Amino acid sequence: NLPANIMVKEVGPRDGLQNESSIISTEDKIKWINLLSQTGLRYIEISSFVHPKWIPQLNDAVEVANGINRDPGITYAALVPNKRGLERALSADIDEVSIFMSASESHNQKNINKSIRATYPVLREVVDEAKQENKTVRGYVSTVFGCPYEGEIKIEQVIRVCDALFSMGIDELSLGDTIGVANPLQVKKVLEELAQRFPTEKLAMHFHNTRGMALANVLVSLQMGITIFDGSLGGLGGCPYAKGASGNLATDDLIHMMESIGIKTDVNERKLQQAALFIQDALGKPLSSHQIEINSNQ
Ligand code: HMG
Ligand code: MG
Repeated sequence: NLPANIMVKEVGPRDGLQNESSIISTEDKIKWINLLSQTGLRYIEISSFVHPKWIPQLNDAVEVANGINRDPGITYAALVPNKRGLERALSADIDEVSIFMSASESHNQKNINKSIRATYPVLREVVDEAKQENKTVRGYVSTVFGCPYEGEIKIEQVIRVCDALFSMGIDELSLGDTIGVANPLQVKKVLEELAQRFPTEKLAMHFHNTRGMALANVLVSLQMGITIFDGSLGGLGGCPYAKGASGNLATDDLIHMMESIGIKTDVNERKLQQAALFIQDALGKPLSSHQIEINSNQ
């Protein structure tokens, strides 16, 4: 019993680009997001309001947010780590604020320079203020299925962090396989635990495809009732503060699998490939998705 349709959330302009060392011009980012807006995707994470020193590639988040053509049917989201980031995000009138933290202490420390305990009040303040401004809030938990510094993370620890984020009043929670170590049986086990405590329709899966298991993990998640999946077009992506993190699940491969098994995404695959080819050209290197490989060889 698979769902009839799913929601695909494109995180390429944020998760994809944050890991690229060659700087893409603001103009090209805007062009790319405008192309993505024409594909049928209903959600695009366009940038990140983190400290520019930490992620130089995305230091133009305000310019990007102000420069794109906004389709009223699309949610344009961005990462926000703290109050300073929220001020910048609000000045750029972002639709949805995405807060993020890690289930593992050491990745949290490396990524956002704080202990888990010290992170909670910072994020709670962001959620409260974002809600006052009538923004929806998405939460991310990283290293749910394994941490580059600590290995496997206990499910109790994952539950604690998810619980803390839901208690803040977030609208949705994205479960991150930051370094692509999850396997389908583990995904099933973790989701069995989480589904007992949290509404499945508020859970999203954020797989990285480091070991080629992302689509298998998607299939299991679908069977567990998950209907929201993050992808990065062409398979771009990774967290610079997680050693060994590489490309996200490729949106184009995800959409292709969904459409082939009769699950609707409302995304036009041809337009999606045009957007993929555009960013591939801008980066000047081949992207890793199977769809783009097929299209590049034609
Ligand atoms: P910090 O240095 O501890 O910050 O960084 P601070 O609060 O001590 O402030 C230091 C200075 O930075 C202050 O300036 C602040 O105003 C300024 P000063 O008063 O000294 O002049 N500052 C800022 N400026 C602009 N924008 C801001 C901001 N915040 C502080 N937002 C911080 C803490 C969280 C900011 C930093 O560690 C950071 O930016 N980290 C982000 C790292 C990151 O982006 N990682 C990748 C995204 S997460 C990910 O990829 C995982 C995910 O995809 C899911 C998955 O795959 O698992 C989501
Ligand atoms: Mg990620």
